[in-house]
Amino acid sequence: MFSLQDKVAIVTGAASGLGKEIALLFARQGAKVVAADYNKEALDQFKSQISTDLTISPVAGDISNLEDVKNIYAHAQSEFGGVDIVVNNAGVMDKLEPIGDLSDEVYDKVINTNLKGTFYMMREAVKIFEKKRAGTIVNIASIAGLEGGRAGAAYTASKHGIIGLTKNTAYFYTKANIRVNVIAPGAMKTNIMSGNIDLSNISDLVKSMLSTQGNQKVADPSEVANVALFLASDEASFVNGAVVVADGGWTTY
Ligand SMILES: NC(=O)c1ccc[n+]([C@@H]2O[C@H](COP(=O)([O-])OP(=O)(O)OC[C@H]3O[C@@H](n4cnc5c(N)ncnc54)[C@H](O)[C@@H]3O)[C@@H](O)[C@H]2O)c1
Repeated sequence: MFSLQDKVAIVTGAASGLGKEIALLFARQGAKVVAADYNKEALDQFKSQISTDLTISPVAGDISNLEDVKNIYAHAQSEFGGVDIVVNNAGVMDKLEPIGDLSDEVYDKVINTNLKGTFYMMREAVKIFEKKRAGTIVNIASIAGLEGGRAGAAYTASKHGIIGLTKNTAYFYTKANIRVNVIAPGAMKTNIMSGNIDLSNISDLVKSMLSTQGNQKVADPSEVANVALFLASDEASFVNGAVVVADGGWTTY
């Protein structure tokens, strides 16, 4: 069940958190994995930890840079002869700021990484998948892509955008046999918040947003990686354009 034997997968943001878990899980299920990340140091550290029975090839690249994106696909071609699965996981957080406090710098960084980077990766994938009439994309959004008060304005907009890109692409390419789905995770134990937000200095508005967390659970990223495995596998053959919420019940509140 959920074998990825002989498949080639590209996973972005693979040097940390959820991306690393997905890369390892896919490789354990038989895939040859291209692990892409712009943090070269973290990528080198990951490389040194990969056991010899797994086929994972790291490549440095910034998904918000089109040349780097093309290089990630060229790497998959030269190392493994092509690509069958693309997981668009790389992402950055904003500082939980509402629009009135949002700087151009934070807006550009978050939108260029989360939304434009995912767009670049998807456009290249579709070109390849259309030719062979096969292939699947798993995007990583967030429950901030479904609701209005789970992050700042930039992150929320970027994740809503990823859900829109997913559904639109799933619609237009279903006859080309390309499946595109998106996971909306709740909170996970990863590095995404590290050093980004000074919780001692946040506004009352943000405090009230954080207080809606109620009985929120925090996942180990491996719990969300399992969802990515299902969506990437042939067992999900009739799942297309779906937003799969994996939040431990957080959005039931
Ligand atoms: N951690 C959470 O609570 C949470 C919740 C919902 C959704 N998510 C989403 O999950 C995904 C993975 O995040 P994570 O929590 O594992 O965070 P993380 O910070 O641990 O890992 C993200 C990785 O992406 C890489 N990255 C960032 N920008 C990049 C770029 N431009 N090009 C290439 N690589 C880049 C980073 O170097 C890092 O290795 C993100 O899309 C995030 O928005 C996370």
